[in-house]
Formats: sequence, structure tokens, C-alpha cells
Amino acid sequence: MKQIAIDGPAGAGKSTIAKQLSAELGYVYIDTGAMYRTIALYCLKNKADLENEEQISALCSEAAIDIRYIDGVQHMFLAEDDVSDAIRTEEVSQAASTVSKYPKVRTRLVEMQRELASQYNVVMDGRDIGTHVLPDASLKIYLTASVEVRAERRYKEYLEKGLPCDLEEMKKDIAQRDHNDMTREHSPLKKAEDAIEVDTSHMTIPEVVEKIRGLIK
Ligand code: DC
Repeated sequence: MKQIAIDGPAGAGKSTIAKQLSAELGYVYIDTGAMYRTIALYCLKNKADLENEEQISALCSEAAIDIRYIDGVQHMFLAEDDVSDAIRTEEVSQAASTVSKYPKVRTRLVEMQRELASQYNVVMDGRDIGTHVLPDASLKIYLTASVEVRAERRYKEYLEKGLPCDLEEMKKDIAQRDHNDMTREHSPLKKAEDAIEVDTSHMTIPEVVEKIRGLIK
């Protein structure tokens, strides 16, 4: 099976790029952040203390999390509920960043991710795909952009959707998530030694896709 790993901080454009590439290549796109978000949502629904490792580990083991593909699009389920939209709030983003530091949570989700990669050709995005989940991926990309650019992109997305937002708050949230994701003990976000870094701060989406297409060739 073929594997392309795309890692990087929140808002660097991983999912947009990974979706386009997977469609072009006919590979399955796997958004691993959505899996951490689903566990986080389950913990929030159960009013758990996110700093309580034992409690979160137990909830993670019992969560009936499922990943399904509907018309080629990844959907996340908690039991029979499609939570694909519910996991996209700022509260869930921060909670996902918190619960993803626990080894029990990571072990369970990494197992699901490797299982998928053993069945399909995949473009998988996340934080630890190149360093940990798929160390033998044929291409590893580390996608970055400055905090300012990432916050502005998110701000525009929210404005377009008519959602309330504050640019300064978004900068703070992104910086906080970078800090959590890069400094945690288990599988922190970092560029794999054999990954190619692409800074998208001053690139358009088509330019980034074109660049990676070139790298695939
Ligand atoms: O990519 P995202 O913003 O949807 O991810 C949400 C959080 O999940 C992120 O802040 C850290 C965690 N995560 C992780 O620890 N490992 C991954 N492979 C993907 C996401």
C-alpha cells in the first residue's frame, strides 16, 4: 500500500491539500485530527475533567468511535451519531489538543490509523504521521505557515460562514495549540528527519498542490 504523510501545526492547510491530493491520486484521505476531536467530544459530553488522565483514558477505551466513508468523504461517528460537524468547534479543538497528550488515547487511535493504512493507499494528515504512525511513508511533507497567516486564514473561514470570531483570540488559540502539540511528551509535533518542509505562508492552495505533485513525481 502507498502512504503519503502530511504533518504540521493547526491551520497550515493540511486538510485542504490532503483532500485535493487524495482525490487526484485516487487514495483515501485520512484526517487523524478528526479522530482526536471525536474522543475529545465524547469526553466533553461526559463532562470529564480533561486534566484527569485516568478518567480520560477510561472514556477513550469505552467510546464507540467509528470512521466511515460516505461518498468518499470521511465521517466520524460516536455510536450511531454522525459528529463530523459537532467536532469542528473551537472548544473541541482545544479539548482535542489536551486529550491527545495521553498515551491511552494515542495508542488506540494510532492502531486504527495503521489498520486503515494497511488496507488502502492513503494520504494521512496529522501531527505524528511521518514520525510515528507511518515511519515508512513514501513521501513525508511538513506543512507550516506563520501563526499570523494561520490565524488570518481561520478568521476568514469563520467570517465566510458567518460565525462569530476575533482575530486576536484566534492567534492566541493557535499559539496555545502549537505549544501543547509541540511540547507534549508522547509523539509531539515535529518534522520527521526525512520530511520535506513546505512553508505555505506566501503560497496559494494551487501552488502548494503543484509543489507536492512535483515531489510525488
Ligand atoms: O488537525 P486538527 O486540528 O483537527 O487536530 C486536533 C488536535 O488533535 C491537535 O491539536 C492535536 C491532536 N492531534 C494529534 O495529537 N495527533 C494527530 N495525528 C492529529 C491530531
